[in-house]
Amino acid sequence: MLRVGIVGCGGIARSHGRAYAADPRVELVAVHDVDPSAAETFAAEVGARACSSVADLVAQDVQLVSVCTPPGTHTDTTVELLGLGTSVLLEKPPTVNLADMDRIAQAESTSAGAVFVVFQHRHGSGAKRAHRLLAEGTLGVPQVAVCETLWYRPDSYFDPAWRGNWAGEGGGPTLGHGIHQIDLLLHLLGEWRTVDARATRVARPVEFEDVSTASVTFASGAVASVTTSLLSPRETSRIRIDTTGGTLEVEHLYGYTDADWSWYPLPDARTAAANGTDPGAGQRSTGASDATDVWAASAGQDVPSNHAAQIHDLVGDLLAGRPHPTTLASTRPTMEFVTALYASSLEGETVAREDLTSDRAFYHRLDGGLPAERVSARMSRA
Ligand SMILES: NC(=O)c1ccc[n+]([C@@H]2O[C@H](COP(=O)([O-])OP(=O)(O)OC[C@H]3O[C@@H](n4cnc5c(N)ncnc54)[C@H](O)[C@@H]3O)[C@@H](O)[C@H]2O)c1
Repeated sequence: MLRVGIVGCGGIARSHGRAYAADPRVELVAVHDVDPSAAETFAAEVGARACSSVADLVAQDVQLVSVCTPPGTHTDTTVELLGLGTSVLLEKPPTVNLADMDRIAQAESTSAGAVFVVFQHRHGSGAKRAHRLLAEGTLGVPQVAVCETLWYRPDSYFDPAWRGNWAGEGGGPTLGHGIHQIDLLLHLLGEWRTVDARATRVARPVEFEDVSTASVTFASGAVASVTTSLLSPRETSRIRIDTTGGTLEVEHLYGYTDADWSWYPLPDARTAAANGTDPGAGQRSTGASDATDVWAASAGQDVPSNHAAQIHDLVGDLLAGRPHPTTLASTRPTMEFVTALYASSLEGETVAREDLTSDRAFYHRLDGGLPAERVSARMSRA
């Protein structure tokens, strides 16, 4: 049995609570929140003890703690937990800047515990298949990709005092919303090299962007465009990767199943397989058993991309003493990308990954520590 705790008893803590409750290998023993009534209510829901501090929670002999607090508090809470020797499952975004990320990494290096980050879309069966088949070269070599987070949040979404400003959120929707798709894109395509970006405030009452667009190059030579929007009424989340072998695509909203993935092989290959079908008449993979369709042939159990999927993987890995892949270090390229997007947009130039050194202001703050009027003017369309 793995004894676990949860710090931060708000919305997403419920997803962690449900995933732990559904796993017979786990005992959720303790929860904590700065708001004692939030901790009491959640503790009663999940049948755990409400603790008055992080130290009290760790004293309940927990081996893993989910950190489900707002992003700006992730670093202090995680460093405290690591200091007490506990492993952490840290919600996204792991931190609000690279300096904090490195502070956690430093604490991790001297702790008995380790840090894992919630990026649940790496853990559905579709992403696992895509990752494996792309790494093996079975789907060809990626050349062009499109990554879209086209969501809708009305003005009222920003009513809470901590929303819509750098102080409360640390960054705009690229950090808070687009990061899920960005993380999956980078996970699938590997090392990125440069970012040219524009973060723009088109309509919402916020200090940062409500839309960002970026052009990315990868070490492999592939290129991608990345768009994040909170102004898009028909909401969708999409990654499309065109390879030398075909088009791999996933389109969903807040979580996918296998049915949301498709593979469109090169028409020539499909023509040959179909023995006489006109070139260009390739169709979406139906998932039907077809030995010539490498995507359909790789299908296994359909695991949707949600907290339960990642928590199931993590618990299994921890209990078996296996490494769990979604480490803090594995998510640094994603935070580097977000940092580069803001730096490129606010400085008006291409940013290379190796430029993101600790002597740059953007390493410490995603607004680069620039005067608020300058950030605002740069992001405003006017
Ligand atoms: N993976 C996902 O799909 C997903 C979805 C939504 C939110 N999130 C992430 O989950 C985190 C929490 O978001 P939420 O929507 O649940 O927020 P929330 O506001 O609903 O809940 C946060 C809770 O943390 C408590 N809290 C604040 N500071 C604290 C501290 N220092 N110590 C202990 N408790 C503290 C608050 O009192 C509140 O109860 C954020 O990082 C967010 O980005 C992830």
